[in-house]
Amino acid sequence: MNQKNITVKYIKSLGKEKSEANFDLLEKLYEEEFPIEIKREIVSSIGRQSNKSRVHDFIEKHAFQKSTYMELVYQMYRTTLYNYKSFEFKDLADRIEAFYNNEIIKKMKEFYFYDKKIYRTKKIDKIENPTVLVGDSAITLKKLPNECIQLIFTSPPYYNARQYSDYHSYNDYLQKMKEVLLECNRVLEDGRFIVINVSPVITKRPGREFESIRYPIHFDFHKLLTESGFSFIDEIIWIKPQYCVPNRNGGYEQTGKPLSYKPNCITESLLVYRKNANFLLDENIKKYPNKKNIDTEIDATNCWYINPKSDKNHPAVFPEELCRRVIKYYSFENDVVLDPFAGSGTFGRVAIKEHRVPVLCEINEDYVKTIIKGGNYDIRN
Ligand SMILES: C[S@@+](CC[C@H](N)C(=O)[O-])C[C@H]1O[C@@H](n2cnc3c(N)ncnc32)[C@H](O)[C@@H]1O
Repeated sequence: MNQKNITVKYIKSLGKEKSEANFDLLEKLYEEEFPIEIKREIVSSIGRQSNKSRVHDFIEKHAFQKSTYMELVYQMYRTTLYNYKSFEFKDLADRIEAFYNNEIIKKMKEFYFYDKKIYRTKKIDKIENPTVLVGDSAITLKKLPNECIQLIFTSPPYYNARQYSDYHSYNDYLQKMKEVLLECNRVLEDGRFIVINVSPVITKRPGREFESIRYPIHFDFHKLLTESGFSFIDEIIWIKPQYCVPNRNGGYEQTGKPLSYKPNCITESLLVYRKNANFLLDENIKKYPNKKNIDTEIDATNCWYINPKSDKNHPAVFPEELCRRVIKYYSFENDVVLDPFAGSGTFGRVAIKEHRVPVLCEINEDYVKTIIKGGNYDIRN
């Protein structure tokens, strides 16, 4: 047959019809050179054939060859899962897992065996009123039940860049962030989002003879988040007008010397992660059958142009627009939303306006006073 006539649709049709002749043809086609999507369909169609002993032998023969593309191995492994009740296929599945020790294969197994009823019927304790937890969020969050929160948005302290935080070392700082993130993971509903606003910081140098240290906090947060049970989804870049940020061009402008160049930093990151779950996001969305955003305006790219905000009560507040967008895209009305480093409580104020129930944690009592001016909060010490 002319190679050009071999399409995904054609292979699918071979898969639907179960016969030894089709099996022969599919095996022959597997040995030929085709684009990966066709090869993938060939493997999948072989998996659907009714002669299971022959399917088993095909997988046994090809799954452990180093030259087999991983995409094809995944299809072979998928077939072993569908036939897992048979001892031979279970054994084959176990051997493929051990041979590759691959994260996608592990996730396939978790997804395949997860009983969706567990999530669908899980009872959650609903927090009914806006709440402030006063104190260290690594401790105060322990007062919340498991999985009572549907969205977390926060801007953590930026190491020692501001007066309100003072850690003995960067490692101490990361350790504290991890403690809070682990609690965030416990209180967040499975499969829901955590969004962290961070950017690199520089700490003041102790004297002119010493170099300052610049910390790429957002890179380190990836490790902290994944170790705390979250998976990476997106990075949204918050872009500010240049006139709003400190000018770092001065030195280079004066001297023109290479190496002295320092660009003005007009971006911050919003790290979007999902709490690990053994089911698709569709399951989370299905819990809200009649709800959707009615405004048609959409931020089509991961670059959000928003002016920063300054505030007399706090040195690093969120612009309300940033909170509004995060709330709009990552939560539904009446959801309970958490900011574990709430500062002046901007997120809480916007959450109330957008008909969500905020839970805010803040360690500094002066900031707590500002928070409670912005809403009718239950306060827990
Ligand atoms: C970057 S600010 C958040 C500002 C906030 N987004 C706003 O709009 O006002 C971080 C806040 O976390 C608070 N904080 C630092 N460590 C904390 C901890 N362990 N527990 C609770 N709050 C903490 C600080 O006091 C500070 O107000």
